[in-house]
Amino acid sequence: MTTTTITVDFPAKQTKGYEIAIAPHSLEGLGEKLITLGLGQKSNRVLVVSNPIIFKHYGDRTVNSLKSAGFEVASLILPAGERFKTAASLQKIYDAALLNRLERSSVIVALGGGVIGDMAGYAAATWLRGLDFVQVPTTLLAMVDSAIGGKTGINHPQGKNLIGAFHQPRLVWTDPEVLKTLPVREFRAAMAEVIKYGVIWDQELFEQLSACDRLDQMRYLKSETLNLILSHCARAKAEIVSKDEKEGNLRAILNYGHTVGHAIEMVTNYRLFNHGEAVGLGMVIAGAIAVELGFWQISDQNAQLQLINKAKLPINLPKDIDPNQIITAMSQDKKVESGKVIFVMPKAIGKSIVTDQVDLGTVLKVLKKL
Ligand code: NAD
Ligand code: GLY
Repeated sequence: MTTTTITVDFPAKQTKGYEIAIAPHSLEGLGEKLITLGLGQKSNRVLVVSNPIIFKHYGDRTVNSLKSAGFEVASLILPAGERFKTAASLQKIYDAALLNRLERSSVIVALGGGVIGDMAGYAAATWLRGLDFVQVPTTLLAMVDSAIGGKTGINHPQGKNLIGAFHQPRLVWTDPEVLKTLPVREFRAAMAEVIKYGVIWDQELFEQLSACDRLDQMRYLKSETLNLILSHCARAKAEIVSKDEKEGNLRAILNYGHTVGHAIEMVTNYRLFNHGEAVGLGMVIAGAIAVELGFWQISDQNAQLQLINKAKLPINLPKDIDPNQIITAMSQDKKVESGKVIFVMPKAIGKSIVTDQVDLGTVLKVLKKL
């Protein structure tokens, strides 16, 4: 079994660094890994948080691995879906922590996608003022993005991710094999975030993606290619987060495609597109704005479009969406600072900047052309 290990390191050393380990068929090795890292040793207790779909597939293997390593293991199964990323679900994690007598030295394991990872991470950030937690990501999005970097949280009825904390995991344990059961639409949507890393940070990843015939389903990717994608994305996120843990500046480049993407999700009432599809469209639009304003070349935009096409993500705005509605939604977004909309602009493949120098007139012009 070949393992790719990437380290997230914080130069100031106030936050502990950690490993992202990517290895096919590694799920069974989780318990031993915790022992190696000295996690959960004093109390010997682990709480696994998951949902019924994921737990049905991978619960036994995860729990057995932990039990074989000598841990006392409890599991909590929360209902699946973004609409359950709530204070009520968080309360259930606290209840399970209490019932199972978790101590400061116990570990919470998040077995799931971004929803489970964000909630379990937030519970770990807050229960007893902070427990160790381990991310075992089971979606492509979680493997390349949400499991890394320590953003944890839940939704408020008035908005996504409004309640949260930075709390870094002690380990990210990635077994790509679990993606075999992931629904195709989830895989495709996360591919928008993968392409994002190629555009904003990693030219080599972009080239590797360009060499693939199709990016829309896992079965079209060789396992070496999938491993390469996972390791490049994880390394990109690790590098960015290591340099800017709390999103003072650089980390904001991860929002490429999100300014317009969020606005599109809002005006379509979160029904027409899922998040990744909206981000893909947001990248098409941000790329077109970058051409219009001379940030990057039309050839770069075309190369980006080719990848988005290969992932079979939408590249056109539906005709019935009024571009003015998107402008209004963007102006209300949390990425507005002092009345200016913050944009991530690509400068070339693998390079990007954060700027407030994109005027809404240009955005409207581009939206009308699409
Ligand atoms: P998700 O967690 O809702 O998972 C998507 C669906 O796939 C769910 O129905 C889940 O049950 C199912 N699933 C998961 N793994 C599976 C598997 N291996 N086999 C079969 N089915 C499986 O969605 P997501 O896209 O992983 O995460 C989205 C969430 O992540 C959002 O809440 C978003 O706010 C958050 N997020 C957080 C960060 C961060 O930095 N913390 C970054 C990006 C997104
Ligand atoms: N997904 C954006 C971030 O982690 O900062």
